[in-house]
Amino acid sequence: MRSDKIVSMPSAAPAPQQITGLCDDHGQFPQKLTVIFGKEFKTTCPECSRIRLAEEAERAQAQEAQVARVRMAEKLGAALIPKRFAGKTFAGYIAATAEQQKALKTCARYAAEFKQIAAAGRCLLLLGKPGTGKTHLSVAIANEIMSTSSATAVYRTIGSVLQAIRATYDHTSDKSESQILASLISPSLLILDEIGVSKEKPSDFELTTLFAIINGRYEELRPTVIVSNLDAKALASAIGERCADRLREGGVIVIPFEWESQRGKEGF
Ligand SMILES: Nc1ncnc2c1ncn2[C@@H]1O[C@H](COP(=O)(O)OP(=O)(O)OP(=O)(O)O)[C@@H](O)[C@H]1O
Ligand SMILES: [Mg+2]
Ligand SMILES: [Zn+2]
Repeated sequence: MRSDKIVSMPSAAPAPQQITGLCDDHGQFPQKLTVIFGKEFKTTCPECSRIRLAEEAERAQAQEAQVARVRMAEKLGAALIPKRFAGKTFAGYIAATAEQQKALKTCARYAAEFKQIAAAGRCLLLLGKPGTGKTHLSVAIANEIMSTSSATAVYRTIGSVLQAIRATYDHTSDKSESQILASLISPSLLILDEIGVSKEKPSDFELTTLFAIINGRYEELRPTVIVSNLDAKALASAIGERCADRLREGGVIVIPFEWESQRGKEGF
């Protein structure tokens, strides 16, 4: 039977006695002594306790930092950013003209607001002349979101994607086509570079593959960054209206790169 009566329990432990302790390292300290059933319990040196806690916190922090480093290394490895571009950042982009400043600012904002960008599935198009820093800024976006959030990013040229898928047909690849497509659809951000480089009309295979990637990401509400030398109109006709339409949804951001090449400015 349940009893609602509140019974006050007599405290088993007697009041502690205030004495002076002695620590080998820190000398005298106020110590509490409690005797329970003839057994003595003494508080330890407060300075020793403080040091022990600080050391534990430091160890935990170091462990956390190590886990974060491993996770970041994994993300960076999976991002497949080419060596030449691996270290590209916003800080390393020199914006000497108003157009370059605008390009830099828009890309930096895309990375800073990536949470909202991802929620809306907003795509980004970096379009224009060779050597103007499109790949540089696209990689800077990937580096920034990977290092400041749990987001994952993958960089691929469309040529390397098509080659990887072709390799699945003649069994020179250990992956299946669907595994390759999944690896391009699952990351928080995909950067597809070198779209429309070949002057010829894209083949059905190219268009089908591109559509599978862009539509796959579109369905999952995951944004894609497209990098190309084509202008917006030429890009739409190169990738097909159905792809272009999906890129536009959610409010596509287009940055034109229309200045001279910054590659080896000495010129040859
Ligand atoms: N404004 C800039 N500040 C610093 N470096 C730059 C700038 N613009 C371009 N670069 C550097 O010049 C080189 C070429 O840039 P990048 O490869 O990004 O050009 P791109 O627009 O992608 O060219 P392409 O269309 O030929 O692929 C890179 O090493 C890049 O870091
Ligand atoms: Mg490039
Ligand atoms: Zn001590």
